[in-house]
Amino acid sequence: MTPDLMEEGARRAALLNPPKPAGKTESGGRAAGFSRVAAAPGEVDTTHGRILYLEDVSVSFDGFKAINNLSLDIAPGELRCVIGPNGAGKTTMMDIITGKTRPDSGTVFFGSTIDLLRYTEPQIAQMGIGRKFQKPTVFEQLTVFENLELALKTDKGVKSSMFFRLDTGDSDRLAEMLYTIHLADSVTRLAGTLSHGQKQWLEIGMLLMQDPKLLLLDEPVAGMTDEETARTAELFLTLKGKHSLMVVEHDMSFIKTISEIVTVLCDGSVLAQGTLDQVQADERVIEVYLGR
Ligand SMILES: Nc1ncnc2c1ncn2[C@@H]1O[C@H](COP(=O)(O)OP(=O)(O)OP(=O)(O)O)[C@@H](O)[C@H]1O
Ligand SMILES: [Mg+2]
Repeated sequence: MTPDLMEEGARRAALLNPPKPAGKTESGGRAAGFSRVAAAPGEVDTTHGRILYLEDVSVSFDGFKAINNLSLDIAPGELRCVIGPNGAGKTTMMDIITGKTRPDSGTVFFGSTIDLLRYTEPQIAQMGIGRKFQKPTVFEQLTVFENLELALKTDKGVKSSMFFRLDTGDSDRLAEMLYTIHLADSVTRLAGTLSHGQKQWLEIGMLLMQDPKLLLLDEPVAGMTDEETARTAELFLTLKGKHSLMVVEHDMSFIKTISEIVTVLCDGSVLAQGTLDQVQADERVIEVYLGR
């Protein structure tokens, strides 16, 4: 098993047994904060029209401001595309949303009530924010089916997973997922034998089995063939509305196919936002892509 897979395995194991929150809470300290997390799944308050809200977020690494007063929000069911030159802070922004990196200042809310800066990375994942890193991290020695089944078990938590049996509802979801991710013909194949693109789809399927409310995807089509990229675009368009998605990509033809609103990040903050045509016509955007 590669170190990446082991790390991913450890992350998924941590989801089964989440640690208590690191931050303080306003009412009742650590224990009260923890019980609120348990109550949180399925209860993201989006009545104000936002599933994710960042305001004035900054983080520095050794004095370098990787994220600089970043503010943006995403509507429920939206498919938001984020573009920007290398080093703009796109991955760091995802690290902050998912609790991997703590910002120095600013506000990060999931819905209008959940302050993400109070929670740990596994807790944030359990609340319904799924993340797809650039490299595929599936369990290579398991079949496609077993990978998806494992994701379902993880979602059910430690107690029920000990006595886990696929019920009819689970089997139906799993079968439907195999079609959604274009792997219905590969159920019994070992994940390690899949193409790069198929592994990416399988990992997306594993995340979807956990029914995330918000899915963050960092360069999902990097390294895919043109055909795989086109099928991934189709897949994302079918997910829109059911899930909220934030997709970071450098592949502009892919962005053109899937995008509504495109956010351009540069030097750790939002440089421009609008349709792809609008941002591509923006002089400042042209400057950062071509002028350096
Ligand atoms: N843990 C870290 N320690 C030090 N510097 C970091 C760290 N993480 C990110 N950086 C720096 O912060 C800046 C933003 O990096 P980030 O990876 O977020 O960019 P990006 O927009 O995802 O770029 P790319 O398109 O190349 O993936 C870069 O200059 C990077 O070197
Ligand atoms: Mg990146």
